[in-house]
Amino acid sequence: MSSDTRVRFPDLNAAAPAPPRAPASGAPASKSLKEGGTIEPVREILWGNSVGVRKFETAQELPVDMRKLIIKLMVVQADTEFASIQQHRPWLDSAPTLEDRWIEARIVADEARHGLQACRILRDFGEEGQGYIDELLAKREGQHKLDAFNMKFDRWSDVGAFCCFVDRVGVYQLRAFQECSYGPLARAMPLMLSEEQLHLNFGYSVLKRIAKDEGKYYGTKEEAQAALDKWYPRALDMFGHSNSETSRRAIEMGLKRWTNEEARARYIEEVTPLVKAAGLSLPNPDFDRHIL
Ligand SMILES: [Fe+2]
Ligand SMILES: [Fe+2]
Repeated sequence: MSSDTRVRFPDLNAAAPAPPRAPASGAPASKSLKEGGTIEPVREILWGNSVGVRKFETAQELPVDMRKLIIKLMVVQADTEFASIQQHRPWLDSAPTLEDRWIEARIVADEARHGLQACRILRDFGEEGQGYIDELLAKREGQHKLDAFNMKFDRWSDVGAFCCFVDRVGVYQLRAFQECSYGPLARAMPLMLSEEQLHLNFGYSVLKRIAKDEGKYYGTKEEAQAALDKWYPRALDMFGHSNSETSRRAIEMGLKRWTNEEARARYIEEVTPLVKAAGLSLPNPDFDRHIL
């Protein structure tokens, strides 16, 4: 980026380590909005090779390699959103309780909005972006990029395990983009994250109810454990290869906060006590893995 002419903000992040813990977007400076405070937008790049430089705000000003990477990331993101709609669809009117059906409908609406959000970012890349959107919209079950999104929800326990483990990886991927160096992507994160939080909380509650209230809810503890064993390895795969050059470049560009293996380790640390509290057990992290 030697020909970069964007404004450099003086000293704002001079001491910031890379990658720092970025503040949540819209974090109040001191008082909340309710209390009459204000929101300080983060305008500069917080980590990577261009710390302190204004964020990229349009597709046109992106360097070629960053443009390519953002397109790639958004295509994968949108693909997972649209795929999960296909996976949830059969449960819209067959989930065990009325509340479960309502949450299924809510999840499907949220995933459609997330897909739309990723496609809006792709649209900014003109004809090239539109070409990818057209391909995404034509994809059917079994044609998706990641294995976790080509598998069916055969039982209600699959819905619980998918939302608990696979959506949770989605949250890690989104959190890695929080306050990233591409403004339009950074600004899309807060709403997507709050919606995803519902999905994974719901997934955990479904799985725990199946495991703990055997007979009173929809499924057995054995089914809950089988669903965990089915989805957890696919969830760990979703973080991508350890020592990935792409994830290293994404951090340098200020796009992602963690390497694949860092994010995967944090995830394992988070789910371990949850699974134990549900009375279930986690397989070894190497069990049934396709991507290491
Ligand atoms: Fe989503
Ligand atoms: Fe989700």
